[in-house]
Amino acid sequence: MKNCLITGGTSGLGIELVKVFLTNNYFVHIIGKNRKKFDIFTQNIDVELKKKVLFYEIDLSEIQNIKNSFDKIKIININVLINNAGIINLNKTLNSMNLEETFVVNYLSHYYLTNKLIESSSIVKKGVIVNISSFTHIFSNMDFKNIDLKKNYNGWFAYFNTKLMNILFTYKCNNIFKEIKSIVINPGWMNTNFGNNNKSKLRNFISFLRNMFSKDPKGVAQKIYAIIDYDNISKNDCYYIVNKKKKSSAFSHKQEVQNILWKKSEELLRNEKF
Ligand SMILES: NC(=O)c1ccc[n+]([C@@H]2O[C@H](COP(=O)([O-])OP(=O)(O)OC[C@H]3O[C@@H](n4cnc5c(N)ncnc54)[C@H](OP(=O)(O)O)[C@@H]3O)[C@@H](O)[C@H]2O)c1
Repeated sequence: MKNCLITGGTSGLGIELVKVFLTNNYFVHIIGKNRKKFDIFTQNIDVELKKKVLFYEIDLSEIQNIKNSFDKIKIININVLINNAGIINLNKTLNSMNLEETFVVNYLSHYYLTNKLIESSSIVKKGVIVNISSFTHIFSNMDFKNIDLKKNYNGWFAYFNTKLMNILFTYKCNNIFKEIKSIVINPGWMNTNFGNNNKSKLRNFISFLRNMFSKDPKGVAQKIYAIIDYDNISKNDCYYIVNKKKKSSAFSHKQEVQNILWKKSEELLRNEKF
């Protein structure tokens, strides 16, 4: 049986991906911060499926949490890793490393987790890494001197920047990890709970529009599953809008930017001795 590890697999797109992989005979490992949500999920699925899903309670806003649980994760032979967890915080929130939470949850935790899994050979040779980005990467204003936007914080730009980082990271992974293949997906606008932690009139309005016009994450998850096929993935053409190959922003293709982000991420983690 193949193994799939999904971050943020307790709601929205993540939980729909969990269901698709389970019904396609994968063993599914979920990283999430809320065990209660996982318990509710397993109460509502078939007994046989329940035997094929495991939960690792890890809050990705702290790299230390991944480190502490890594021994349990590294023994999985991962065929597919899906870096899906994501947040938008309109108010600046710093973690114990004094880094802004959106940056850590959406990008740095996935950078750390992926590299650790590869270093410990936990991802199989013909493994696939899937990073979930967004079309909003085109609005980013990334500044390496203020990578987590701690200064002059703006929650929207903090989010846009991390979604660009997901793409830069994918392209760099394809350069340096010879056998493993990475793809990056803009899933489009979906009807999930995304962003509902921010309470405002604008948020309520966006949620209202989302209920009416956005896509069902179930259909998106099924389409994503269909393109996760090692032999058919091209490292040079690996940005998708749901299941269609498209071009990401010109900026995301700049190798020097991909390299700087990689180095910067290494440095941040090295300074904290991770
Ligand atoms: N919804 C959209 O329209 C849209 C559009 C483009 C891209 N995306 C991307 O799609 C991905 C999935 O988002 P979604 O729409 O499915 O939103 P969602 O329903 O809010 O799901 C996000 C998932 O991430 C988990 N998560 C958040 N903070 C975490 C943390 N600190 N540690 C561990 N897990 C954490 C959440 O866990 P809890 O439920 O326990 O908080 C949840 O399972 C994100 O990367 C998002 O940027 C979404």
